[in-house]
Amino acid sequence: MPGKLRIGFIGAGGIAIGHYQRLLATKKAQVVAINEPSEQSLRQFHAHCPGSEALPVHRDYRDLLKNERLDGVVVLSPHTVHYEQIAASLKRGLHVLTEKPMVCTIKHAKALIDLAKKTKRTLMIAYQRHYEPTFRYMRDQIRKGRLGEVQFVQAIQAQEWLRLTRGTWRQDPALSGGGQLNDSGSHLVDIVMWVTGMKVKEVYARADNFDTRVDINTSLTMTFENGALGGMSVIGNAPGWYEDHSIVGSKGALYLRQGLGLIHVDAVGRPIPVKLPKYTKNPNSNFVDVILGKAEPETPPECGLRTIEVTEAAWKSAASGRPVRVP
Ligand SMILES: NC(=O)c1ccc[n+]([C@@H]2O[C@H](COP(=O)([O-])OP(=O)(O)OC[C@H]3O[C@@H](n4cnc5c(N)ncnc54)[C@H](O)[C@@H]3O)[C@@H](O)[C@H]2O)c1
Repeated sequence: MPGKLRIGFIGAGGIAIGHYQRLLATKKAQVVAINEPSEQSLRQFHAHCPGSEALPVHRDYRDLLKNERLDGVVVLSPHTVHYEQIAASLKRGLHVLTEKPMVCTIKHAKALIDLAKKTKRTLMIAYQRHYEPTFRYMRDQIRKGRLGEVQFVQAIQAQEWLRLTRGTWRQDPALSGGGQLNDSGSHLVDIVMWVTGMKVKEVYARADNFDTRVDINTSLTMTFENGALGGMSVIGNAPGWYEDHSIVGSKGALYLRQGLGLIHVDAVGRPIPVKLPKYTKNPNSNFVDVILGKAEPETPPECGLRTIEVTEAAWKSAASGRPVRVP
């Protein structure tokens, strides 16, 4: 397949399957080699990605970077190894699309942003909500001033995380870097700031680890830089999946209710018809187009920095019992 971008995978577990399929669907890129240390993951990956059995497999990501001719990599490994894998890939001159969370410390996030600038390579995060028409509509309305000044934000994410991730690397802090706040919660923290365009100034958090070594449920009370108040609930011990967003401004409100869709009302509660934009891009197609110079990244590494800033502040607050300023 000459002319196509050559992409390597670092990690080929559950989420890698969708990345493979979406990259192939662009018809502008091909996956040419894989790094995966687990036979079991590899078998699952091959079963779901016909044709991938022929690809060379490296047990160590360094061998992938050293021995393969690549344009870019997709980082799909446990959270605490993202940093060194992304850094090594950028230094090797490769473009990087990483799964969330980009990294697990503010220090690492800043170092990678600097490195991407220095090496002039693309670094993007697979935050898929940025590509969803509903969140794009909400962001667009706020950017156009249709909500006036945003004064309150509330977001809830509930998943059966405690039960489903038992015995896996996700509940081992050495590999996950933290619990559900840093895992699926990373999406929630990111999207609230991306949609509103507002930065969190201060966090007061309480966390419940249940009987594990990582946070399962986290309750966050937040103050934004414009003075708006808000809260986030990251609930890892729920019976199933539920996500909910409420944004209240001086000229109206947006209420996103799972299963019911998006409700937009004006300042006195009259419904405003919601016309969602047609938008069919995804993190993989955007990554490919950015490498080809045809698009701007929808999920730049600064989103990863802002997210870990809030996450670290929440961890510190939960540990100290005090509100913590977000740097
Ligand atoms: N965007 C989303 O909605 C979403 C959903 C699920 C997972 N993810 C993210 O994707 C990443 C992978 O998650 P997953 O669900 O595929 O987990 P997984 O456990 O299914 O797969 C992770 C894979 O990485 C491999 N691995 C372990 N150590 C490695 C190393 N040092 N180098 C390379 N590979 C290594 C494991 O063998 C495993 O196959 C995580 O960052 C996770 O947060 C994102």
